[in-house]
Amino acid sequence: MTLSSTTPRPLIAGNWKMNGLSVALDEARAVAAALEAKPPAARVAIFPPATLLHRLSQAVEGAHLLTGGQDCHGKSSGAHTGDVSAEMIADAGGSLVICGHSERRTDHGETSAQVAGKAEAAAAAGLEPIVCVGETLETREAGQAVSFVVSQVRDSLPTSLAGKAFSVAYEPLWAIGTGRTASVDNIVEMHAAIRAELVSRFGEQGRTVLILYGGSVKPENAREILAAPEVGGALVGGASLKAKDFLAIIQAL
Ligand code: 13P
Repeated sequence: MTLSSTTPRPLIAGNWKMNGLSVALDEARAVAAALEAKPPAARVAIFPPATLLHRLSQAVEGAHLLTGGQDCHGKSSGAHTGDVSAEMIADAGGSLVICGHSERRTDHGETSAQVAGKAEAAAAAGLEPIVCVGETLETREAGQAVSFVVSQVRDSLPTSLAGKAFSVAYEPLWAIGTGRTASVDNIVEMHAAIRAELVSRFGEQGRTVLILYGGSVKPENAREILAAPEVGGALVGGASLKAKDFLAIIQAL
């Protein structure tokens, strides 16, 4: 991490995706207990499925562990069957929300304009959005990864985030759930390009917005990835489901 003194603490975020029944609360309790015994250098957050958010938030209340939603609607309420609003996430105890994860973009056709609307709604509800971007293998092999991701950043961040807490997560699609990780060179190149876009868009604030890396982060590679320039933390999928693995990643900082 090459971050200035005004930079927020790094963020290690565990995205449980569509995993987790009631019994999984024990994993979150185990993470909270370990962080209580040894406070982390990073801020740490778990993003359980919506069904567990309220109970998980209550279970870890007062611990060094934040919670958040995996998605939110762009509106605060209304006739949107099956959706969850940012206000509902805040009401359930969450303080962050993931916006525009590639699985939402792919499975539900979310566009960057919609993602920007979600991030705007999140910030309006007092949540800290983590806005996700990332290219497919096809785009990378066509040599267009950087230009694609920079345009996603441009289109997915609403101007209203100026002055608000938010972060960006770079998650190359070909590295998600595949066991394949982007090389540190790939990560450094992409994070530098995202940083330049953030600074051009948000000025001074853009220098301190955290840029997380996601895509097969695990205990074995976390230290190297988290030490790379402009890596402000990690968005972890599979390895966040087990307290032991997630804690090893948190402690890699
Ligand atoms: P994996 O860590 O399972 O590759 O998932 C990454 C991710 O999509 C986190 O949001």
